[in-house]
This record gives sequence, structure tokens and C-alpha cells, in this order.
Amino acid sequence: MRIISSLSEFKKFRDSLFGNIGLIPTMGALHDGHLSLVNQSHQNCNHTIVSIFVNPKQFAPNEDFDSYPRNLNIDQSALESLGVDVLFLPDNQIIYPNNFSTYVEENMLAKGLESLSRPHFFKGVLTIVLKLFNIINPQSVFFGKKDYQQFRLVEKMVGDLNLDIKVVGGETIREEGGLAMSSRNAAFSESEIQDLGIIYKTLKMAKD
Ligand code: PAF
Repeated sequence: MRIISSLSEFKKFRDSLFGNIGLIPTMGALHDGHLSLVNQSHQNCNHTIVSIFVNPKQFAPNEDFDSYPRNLNIDQSALESLGVDVLFLPDNQIIYPNNFSTYVEENMLAKGLESLSRPHFFKGVLTIVLKLFNIINPQSVFFGKKDYQQFRLVEKMVGDLNLDIKVVGGETIREEGGLAMSSRNAAFSESEIQDLGIIYKTLKMAKD
């Protein structure tokens, strides 16, 4: 697996690739949900690229940017063992050079739900996602349906901006007790993870 941090090195490498490219954009601290997206990409694409970038633009000043889990060595070996072609690891200066001032905003699906408590969030997500699409030039991109509003917004942006990219959703992967896997679950103890499964179990029971 190649690990590339520079734009010029990535461009040279990208120009040498033939066939379909699948991209899984992530913020690292990978779990089985991310790894299932890698497997989906392997099944559909000739090459799989994973990006890891903890995107400051999707965190408000009072949120957990500094404490967001970062496990680069573990992530790297997981991706290596799954046969990922490239891990793209840009730094902040590459993604947001000085005087960066252009953002992507969606104004329909981005209203309500997660936006109510995190009004800055989707603007930050769509901006980084479009930047990664432009740098990496994938034919297919893979997003977990756990963040369903995010998934639908990426689809909407791709349609609205005529991007020639297929957006593929991956099913939510859950802990044994029912809690959806998430990088932020690292903040919970094993017993809290078990207890939190009650939310999913109760919703499922109500649905049934
Ligand atoms: O879902 C995430 O991990 C992030 O929101 C994403 C899509 C990688 C953008 O930073």
C-alpha cells in the first residue's frame, strides 16, 4: 500500500492508474463499518483509495476536534491487510491553504436533523468531500448509511453539480449489543456500548 501525503506525488500516481477508482473518505479511527466499505470498493472497482483527514471545518469550536480519536498505525495496518492501493493522508495546509475561502453549501436536505445541533457541519463535510473528489478523481465513492443525512447530501451534491461519480451506500455495521459502530464509540466503555444498544433494540421492537 502506498501512503501519499503530497498533492504532486498523488497526481503523478493517479495519472499512472488505469481502470475504475473507488474512494472511501474517512477521518480515521477505522472500524468494521469503514472496512466493509473497502470491501465494497474492492468488489466494484479496480483500485481502492482511502483518505484519512480529520476535517477541522466540520467541527464547531466547542466540539471534539482535539480529542477526536486518531489511531494512524492501527488504521494503516488494517488497510494494508485489506489490500488498499493508496492511503491518502493530506495535511491541513494542503487542504486549506492560507486564505482558503470557498465552501459548498446545500440548502434543502441540510436543513433540520443533525443541522439543528451542528449548523456548521454539512458545509464542512461537503467542502472537504468535493475537494477530495477533485483531487482523487474517483469513479465511485463509498459512504456509510449510518450517517444517513450525510450520505443523502453527498448524493444531492453529486447530482446538483453534475459530478460524474457513483455514490454507493454501505449498510450500518453494529456492535453485538446493537449500537452502530462509530469512531467516537472509543469514548465509551464496553458496558456503556452494551447499554447503548438499547436504543436500537427499542426502535427495532417498536418498528416490528
Ligand atoms: O463521515 C466522515 O467520516 C466524515 O464526515 C467525512 C465524510 C470523511 C468527511 O470528513
